[in-house]
Amino acid sequence: MKKIAVFTSGGDSPGMNACVRAVVRTAIYKGLEVYGIYRGYEGMIEGDIKRMYSHSVSNIVQRGGTILKSARSEEFRTKEGRQKAYEKLQKHGIEGLVAIGGDGTFTGAKLFFEEYGIPTVGCPGTIDNDIYGTDYTIGFDTAVNTALEAIDKIRDTAAAHDRIFFIEVMGRDAGFIAVESGIGGGAEFVMVPETKTDLDSVVNALKNLRKTKTSSVIVVAEGDDEGSAETIMTKIKEKIADSSKEFKVTTLGHIQRGGSPTARDRVLASRCGMAAVEGLIAGEQNCMAGVTNQEVVFTPFGDCIGREKPIVRDHLRLIDILSI
Ligand code: F6P
Repeated sequence: MKKIAVFTSGGDSPGMNACVRAVVRTAIYKGLEVYGIYRGYEGMIEGDIKRMYSHSVSNIVQRGGTILKSARSEEFRTKEGRQKAYEKLQKHGIEGLVAIGGDGTFTGAKLFFEEYGIPTVGCPGTIDNDIYGTDYTIGFDTAVNTALEAIDKIRDTAAAHDRIFFIEVMGRDAGFIAVESGIGGGAEFVMVPETKTDLDSVVNALKNLRKTKTSSVIVVAEGDDEGSAETIMTKIKEKIADSSKEFKVTTLGHIQRGGSPTARDRVLASRCGMAAVEGLIAGEQNCMAGVTNQEVVFTPFGDCIGREKPIVRDHLRLIDILSI
């Protein structure tokens, strides 16, 4: 293998740049030519592909976003789109790919590999942490810390006004960000898609809070079955029916996707990027390089996207016990 290319795809996540840097520098270190594909599968279809050098990735390890830009490509979902992408890769003589992204990225990579056989290794880049085969995904730690900082600030004002705050965090269909930011932020409740929360139990608990607890923070994962934080707040407000209680909603939104990556995310990104290139050279393909129990592990794309990554049940118990 002489030429490989790297791209970032799907929702960006802090640490993607550190991962791109690790891929580019490891490839050069190992004597490969390395190319950057811009805007994910969109750029692959359009042939937006440029040679990268060591200096191309200088001064990016600390930056959020992705210098390669990212996109969600509708055209790549079609056979014709993938055919065009293959032709562009052939034109540049690309023999291997490193795909940095989440489940959508890996779904595309798996299909593309099955059709055209270009060896591809993925790196788990998403704030959602919803990828099987790695303990954490690149960007999750930063997103949790960003959410936590916001929760801390909201708690100050919640306490000052004796208010009940519903804070909605990202995570798509997973509750990892909600659970970890909820534990760190001392939330009274955390609502996640992985478990069904009985709203009446939340109402009862809010009614029966000890007298010294005059404000509450409830963290809601955006994918919760009961709906958005706004919807849940409205339902609970109706059920409590106590006009002396004030309810507020804050949706944290895309702030969770930006910012300088934490040390944990930079290290994870660097490890996965290096492992992906070394894996490609060693013959790994159609799989993701993740880190489990401190070890690099290669997991088939089929498992990464097809197997559920369970939430840590003990984390939910922690919230129940520590919020009394
Ligand atoms: O997958 C990352 C993520 O930020 C999810 O948490 C969220 O549901 C989604 O992307 C938002 O996507 P977009 O930026 O396209 O609105």
